[in-house]
Amino acid sequence: MSHMAETVQSVAGSVTQERVLVLDFGAQYAQLIARRVREQNVYCELVRHDITPDQIKQHAPRGLILSGGPSSVYAENAPKCHPGIFDLDIPVLGICYGMQLVCEALGGNVENAPASEFGRARCEVTSESDLFAGFPQETDVWMSHGDQVTQVNDDFVPLARTKTCHIAAVKHSSRPVYGLQFHPEVSHTPDGSLLLRNFLISICGCSGNWQLGDFAQEAIREIRKRVGNSRVICGLSGGVDSSVTAALLFQAIGPQLSCILVNNGLLRKNEQQTVINEFTDHFKADLRVVDGQKRFLDQLAGITEPQEKRRRIGFEFIECFKEEAAKIDDARFLAQGTLYPDVIESGAAHDGPAATIKLHHNVGGLPEQLGFELIEPLRDLFKDEVRRLGIELGLPEDLVWRHPFPGPGLAVRCLGEVTHERLEVLREADAIVVDEIKAAGLYRETSQAFAVLLPVQSVGVMGDARTYEETIAIRCVDTDDFMTADWSRLPNELLAQMSTRIINEVKGINRVCYDISSKPPATIEWE
Ligand code: XMP
Repeated sequence: MSHMAETVQSVAGSVTQERVLVLDFGAQYAQLIARRVREQNVYCELVRHDITPDQIKQHAPRGLILSGGPSSVYAENAPKCHPGIFDLDIPVLGICYGMQLVCEALGGNVENAPASEFGRARCEVTSESDLFAGFPQETDVWMSHGDQVTQVNDDFVPLARTKTCHIAAVKHSSRPVYGLQFHPEVSHTPDGSLLLRNFLISICGCSGNWQLGDFAQEAIREIRKRVGNSRVICGLSGGVDSSVTAALLFQAIGPQLSCILVNNGLLRKNEQQTVINEFTDHFKADLRVVDGQKRFLDQLAGITEPQEKRRRIGFEFIECFKEEAAKIDDARFLAQGTLYPDVIESGAAHDGPAATIKLHHNVGGLPEQLGFELIEPLRDLFKDEVRRLGIELGLPEDLVWRHPFPGPGLAVRCLGEVTHERLEVLREADAIVVDEIKAAGLYRETSQAFAVLLPVQSVGVMGDARTYEETIAIRCVDTDDFMTADWSRLPNELLAQMSTRIINEVKGINRVCYDISSKPPATIEWE
């Protein structure tokens, strides 16, 4: 991934002069801050917490936000910011740990709070300021801290308090420097977006005119410039990220784009046809479908161990892709649908503490040895922005709102041996789960909804006959980040309808269960 960071330059970076940097001190909320800033139509990037003043100047940001973090400012090895960042005359907003850093650096005392404060607190605004303009006198805020600022010198004006935190917000009297002990970025702070807006628009002087449409136009210009007359290959999976990548490239370079869809036989029902409809019939792009169904099934014959399934599928995918790509003359670039969270999580963006939180287990990625230069036009965007961009580029809502689907596809939902017959059973049951949840109007509210085929046979009766058939488990989860998840509280009638339809319509199934495990300790997928 670090290789990609060098080869691919930020598209959004050149779009706008107006940007804000979030210095990442390892907060679970650091990405969320960046998203909230972009929701105010101000372009924003996460950067390392120890970025130097000179590096900051190169970005020419309008404002800096110091994120929260799990450390105590007094702990050994606590991540610190460069003290020179306060002398740049760029407005600074420190959030939680960020506020403690600000106060520590410019004259305050941070102590372990008598009682840690986690959760909702009532906040009283005690002093007028541009940061709290338009705020109610009292409002709910979300706290999550052990330490707090207990004292500030005369250079700071306290702005707000809660019952247990007497300095819940501060402003420096002569510099554009602010601090908040609570989290304006989470939805539990209902007036948080007003606060961020005040900081961005009134204090930083941003105009708030960053738009995805501008982003698309600029991205298209950049792609054309970089690609010249060469050819670009883009792997399509049926998922949102690769589809939006391909749609953007198609707008940029049309016939110079070749898309490859490897049908590994592990796709969802109608998935191949949806991709063909979209990219051949609608966009008239050069789409090559590789029928790898037999090859993948041969590889999977007799294999039941989940990681071995993944390994074999990953290997076969690369082989199929390589063979097809070799048929395309003059291909110099490979486009991938890497998103901003992938960049952050892989550490390619800034190598900060948040970088190590999530480990990837994707098998869909293609190795660098394929010899292509990478194009990753979505690497500055969050998932919801990618969806909006997809709509702007003319992709249908259905495709843009698809639930995520693992690279190894139905293989990791077909427990036990993966055979053509068992995949057919699973595909039909899965389509019923998705159909019914859509019909109930709950598809968008749910993060992932799918069927799992269990190699467990149980007794049933159908008519006068005794049956001995396999089991489908329905898995539906709600999650913001897929790192933790809760099972969806679906209405009983919906579950009943799914169960009745699966047992009646899918031959080979006589029992349906609903998975009521949260993650952790369970995972979302069953393998
Ligand atoms: P788990 O099962 O780890 O899944 O809770 C979290 C998210 O990752 C997806 N997932 C995968 N995606 N290759 C992928 O591309 C994989 O091997 C894989 N395993 C899980 C899963 O669907 C969920 O969205």
